[in-house]
Formats: sequence, structure tokens, C-alpha cells
Amino acid sequence: MCGIVGCILKENKDVAPILFNCISKLEYRGYDSVGMATFNGEINVKKAEGDIETVDSALNFRNMKGYFGIAHTRWASTGKPTDENAHPHLDETGTVAVVHNGTLENYSYIKEELIKEGHEFKSTTDTEVIPNLIKKYMDNGLDLENAVRKATEKLKGSYAIVVFAKDEPDKLVATRMNSPLIVSYGKEGYFVASDTPAVLEYARNVVRPKEGEIAILTKKGIEIHDANGKKVPWRSEYIDWTPEMAQKEGYDHFMIKEIIEQSTAVRNTLGQKANIKKVIEEIGDVKRICFVACGTSYHASISGKYLIESLAGIPIDVIIASEAKYTAKTWDEDTLVVFISQSGETYDSRMALKQARKTSKTLAIVNVAGSAMSEEAEFVIQTQAGPEIGVAATKTYVAQLTAIYLFAGLLAGDDDLINQLYKVPTYIDEVTSQREYIKELSSRYDFADDAFYLGRGFSYPIALEGALKLKEITYIHAEGYAAGELKHGPLALIDEKVPVFVIIPPGEDYDKTMTNLEEVKARDAIILSVGAEGDEKIAKNSRMVFEINPAVKDIIAPLVYIVPLQLISYYVTLDKGYNPDKPRNLAKVITV
Ligand code: F6R
Repeated sequence: MCGIVGCILKENKDVAPILFNCISKLEYRGYDSVGMATFNGEINVKKAEGDIETVDSALNFRNMKGYFGIAHTRWASTGKPTDENAHPHLDETGTVAVVHNGTLENYSYIKEELIKEGHEFKSTTDTEVIPNLIKKYMDNGLDLENAVRKATEKLKGSYAIVVFAKDEPDKLVATRMNSPLIVSYGKEGYFVASDTPAVLEYARNVVRPKEGEIAILTKKGIEIHDANGKKVPWRSEYIDWTPEMAQKEGYDHFMIKEIIEQSTAVRNTLGQKANIKKVIEEIGDVKRICFVACGTSYHASISGKYLIESLAGIPIDVIIASEAKYTAKTWDEDTLVVFISQSGETYDSRMALKQARKTSKTLAIVNVAGSAMSEEAEFVIQTQAGPEIGVAATKTYVAQLTAIYLFAGLLAGDDDLINQLYKVPTYIDEVTSQREYIKELSSRYDFADDAFYLGRGFSYPIALEGALKLKEITYIHAEGYAAGELKHGPLALIDEKVPVFVIIPPGEDYDKTMTNLEEVKARDAIILSVGAEGDEKIAKNSRMVFEINPAVKDIIAPLVYIVPLQLISYYVTLDKGYNPDKPRNLAKVITV
């Protein structure tokens, strides 16, 4: 998703190197174009399609002049990734500059109106209507702040914008609706950005404007105004994520660093036990729980379903957030709706959360403190994975699982389960210490066009997540299946060219999964099993095996068995020559 940054320095020195550094820190969000605008009497703009390094070597962002400016990484949603569509966008007179994250649902109507009034457009983006609206209102006599307010009143959809204008220079004006935006300050100056990693190096005191509020940044400080223009007091929180946490620290990629950090993510999230207990007490009795999430977080939710249903006997639904509106009709005051999201900003989940608040108790399990969903839900559990920069979720996933396991264990009063969780970090470290071996195993898979992942019971969501990790970063088509479903269709696709990953931990589903393993073996599939150390039956029936040591049982498997599958995807991606941190077409924070 697009990344936005704005900075105004306290002193009159050039802001460009700082802006450039900040926008580079948002690469992880996913983007296809990059641009910057600064002001030194005139608005200077440089922007182009391409990655930050390539565009910078062609345009040299860092020599732009002026002590304030805005920057943007664009992830194309309305209009193709082209130089013209890259942000910042100016109004037709070139005097109002805007960066925008989000999508405007009604931009075509506004554009038509503006065209009828004689305005001209250069791009095919939705964003370009914003500077033109602002300019129009400024020409009608409004100051920049009120012009921004009036312009945003017309917009429908999601936006976080930062604006400056030649006719009212020396300030940045920013606002948001359904898109994330933080304001922060440090020694050098004042910042606005779509996410904290952008500014951590310069500013760790973060203010989170509410939707519809307008932030005004000058070299003297920050003001936040409400929808009526009234000054509102703001409170900042200190972000203890260090800039180093968002660096590769000697690893080749964020993804491998974050896979290795999973033991720490689990350990730190276990530190939330007392908070989770308190949240459970405050929530009180519920008759039904409904998990709502997307992607990897959806897979964590399925583990939650298996766990809570088997331990606490509470009926659980798991809904993909973008499909939630139908189930939402059945939510009532006895339902707890649980939102799982690493970013806490995912648009579909947020819309479902808005809906759930009207009828039910809501709980958000998020990794980013102060994110939109953590502000909007009634109850919050914060996972402690630290910043995750790789687009593919890894450590935030095991942290989500840890929080869900604690929640389920505490809800059911299952001390045995909770005690087992404290051993998980060691199990994870044991797997990651074998990464050279996993790399070797992975080198045999880059040929594949398709792959299947099979698991039953607690291992079914592992299969789903293993397949997602493979497809999103290696671009190999992969399907996760409940092992018992295979014979109801997909078995037709299995032959000697198809890798099948079988997740088969010890436990009550073991024998049945073994039957499924034998089914695919009979079709000569290339089987790689993940099972317990020393399991000879698995070894005999599989082409390759990754052994989990010690032999954790199925109930704990989701937290451990996923790790070799993440590593396999990582190494296959490297073999194919792709960058695992930035898979094509994907973004870290999906705010549209
Ligand atoms: C996959 C991945 C995505 C996210 C999904 C939800 O590796 O990261 O599938 O899980 O976009 O994002 P959050 O958890 O931020 O709501």
C-alpha cells in the first residue's frame, strides 16, 4: 500500500535527505513508484515509476532544496503504475502538492465536475482531484486548512493526505479517513507518516490524529484541529520500537531475520498473559465467538477455532473480513467478535469492526500499538512481535497464535496447555538452527508449477498458511487442503511432478493423515513430510522428511510446524531469484 511522509524541519536546512531516508523505510509496504516534493519559493517535484534506488539514481531526490516537503511510495490502485500517476500530485496551476494513501470511491464524479468547470488533469489517478479541489477552495478565499477540510468533505472512500501550498507556505496540513496516519516530533523537526518505521530514526513521540481531524505542522510545532477547526489537545506516546528493530542487522532479508525472531516474538507475547486474563474477565460471558480476519491472520483464526472449540466448547465462526457482512447480520450482544490483524489497519477488517461495534463485544488482536483497530475495538490484546517489515507475515503470525493460545488456555482454565507454550521458543529455535538443511531440501523444489499442502485438525490451518507462504513469495501455485478433502477432487491433479507437503504431527489425526499420505504416494507425488523425529513410518512413505525435535503433539504443532514451511518458501524464492521481502503485487498494509 502507498506510504506517505511529510517533514518540516525546525531549522532552514534541506529536508530532502531526511525525507528520502524516511520514505525508504516504507518500502516494505509494497510500491511501484516513488516521488518527492519540496518547497523553496517554488514547488519542486521529482517522481517516477520504479524502485526507490533506481529512481533516485536517475533523479537524485537528495539534492532537492527546501526545509519542508512530502514524499510518497505508490502502490497502484486507481490508474496504472506510470511516471505521471506517481505522487506527489499538483493541481493544474502547480501550486498545491498532495500525497495520498487510500482510494476515493467517488473520484470520477468529482473529476467530471471539475472538468466541466474547466480543470485539466494529467494523470489517471483518483488522487489528482484532491489538489484541484483544494486549489479551487483556496481561490474562493479559504485558507489552506479550511480548503483541505472542505475538499475532504466531498471525498468518499479512504484517504490519508499530506498537503502544502505555494500560496500559504511553511506548513504541512494532513488529515485522514479510513487510512492510517501518525504525526510525530523529534530533535530535527515535525513529521507525518503512514506508519512509525518511517520516522523512528528521527522522532519516537507519536500522536495519532483521529479520523477527520486536521494536523498542522509548522517549524514551531504541531496543532491538531477538529472538524470545526477547534484546537484539540493531543497526547503523544513514546514508541519503544528501536530503529534497529526495523533494520536487517546483517541478514540478507527481513524475512529470514523475522523467521529467526519468532522465538522472541512468542516469548514476548507470552508476557501478555496477565493482560489477556484481565481482558477475558472484562469481556465476561459470551455464547459465541466469531473471528474475522484476512490472509495469514485468517489462518491464525482457524487455529483459534479448533483450539477454543475443543478446549472451551464455545461455538466459533471464522470469517474472511471481506465476506463478513452476511454473518454480521447474526451478531448480537452475546457474540464476541475477535479481529486478528498484524497491522491493525486492514480495510476490510476495519469495516467489519465498525459493523460489529453496533451489536457485539469486540476484541482486536493486533501487533501495532495505536493502530486503527486497536483504537476502535472495545478490548485489545497486543502481540509483541516487534515491527515486521517483510511483506509475508511470519513472526506476527506466531505471535498471533501465541495470543490466541493464551486466550484459549485461560478461557478454558487449561494450565497444561499454557505451560507447554513456554517451551515453544526453544522448539522454534531448534527448527531455525537447521536452516542449512532446509535450504538443501528447498533446492529441490524450484521446478514446481503447483504444490499441495495437506493437514488435518490442528494441522489444517498449517497447510493453508504453508501454501500461502509458498504462493505469495515464490509465485508457485499452491493449495492448502484438509487432508480428508483431497479425494473429493484435487487428487485428480496429483502425479509424479507435483510436490505434496504433508503435515503429520503425532496426535489423534495421525493415522488418518497417514492414509492420505499413502493416497498421494500411490500417485507418485513428491512427498515432503513434516513430522516427529524418529518416525520411521513417515520416513518410509515420504521422499523427504523434516523432523521436528522434540516430537510436539498436534495441539502445539501450529506454532512450530509452520517454521520449516516458512523457511522452505524463503529458500525456494532465493533459488528462483526473487526478493522474498517484496513479492510482486502485494503490500504489507492493505488500507483499501
Ligand atoms: C500474508 C500476509 C497477508 C496478511 C493480510 C492481513 O503473508 O501478510 O495475507 O495476513 O493481508 O493483514 P493484517 O494481518 O495486517 O490484517
